[in-house]
Amino acid sequence: MAQQNYVIDQMISAKAIAARIEDLASEIEQSFQGTDKLIVVGLLRGSFVFIADLVREIDLPIEVDFLEASSYGDGMESTREVRIMKDLRGKIEGRDVLLVEDIVDTGHTLRFVTGLLKSRKPRKLETIALLDKPTRREVDVKASYTGFEIPDEFVVGYGIDYAQRNRNLPYIGKVRFTDQA
Ligand code: IMP
Ligand code: MG
Repeated sequence: MAQQNYVIDQMISAKAIAARIEDLASEIEQSFQGTDKLIVVGLLRGSFVFIADLVREIDLPIEVDFLEASSYGDGMESTREVRIMKDLRGKIEGRDVLLVEDIVDTGHTLRFVTGLLKSRKPRKLETIALLDKPTRREVDVKASYTGFEIPDEFVVGYGIDYAQRNRNLPYIGKVRFTDQA
């Protein structure tokens, strides 16, 4: 199917995102107070902008690592089958870990990845998602911290793509198709 024409309507401004991240970071600081070194794990590729802004607000000793899980391919529908495309570089056994995700949608990705990380026996594991679409949930998972709950809309920007495009928008926008039937 050919790519449809669409426009992007702003949903969450860059300023609102920055303000929310400050609050989330102080909750995280409290939760991980006294940690030897927090390992912040970004789930590629959608979380790359969020993790960059988030870690700069977290005043704790941290390390950053990345994990890539396959999900949507280039479309808008989840395959529901999650595979690890790139694993962590470091060990997390006995460590404090914060998993950073862009969006929790059906929940399959978050459930699979947290299950995998737990099997490696971290001392503590928490999860943060910038966005949550609770009405889309197919499995019962919830991130420890959520930036914004949003309705069932397809969104882009701030690291999040539609067919690999629009990751560089500084805000979160919703995709609105303009093609006539
Ligand atoms: P889940 O496994 O269905 O929860 O899907 C999570 C992943 O699907 C997210 O990390 C995103 O990469 C992708 N995703 C879910 N909703 C959207 C969206 O509205 N725009 C772009 N990607 C999305
Ligand atoms: Mg993703």
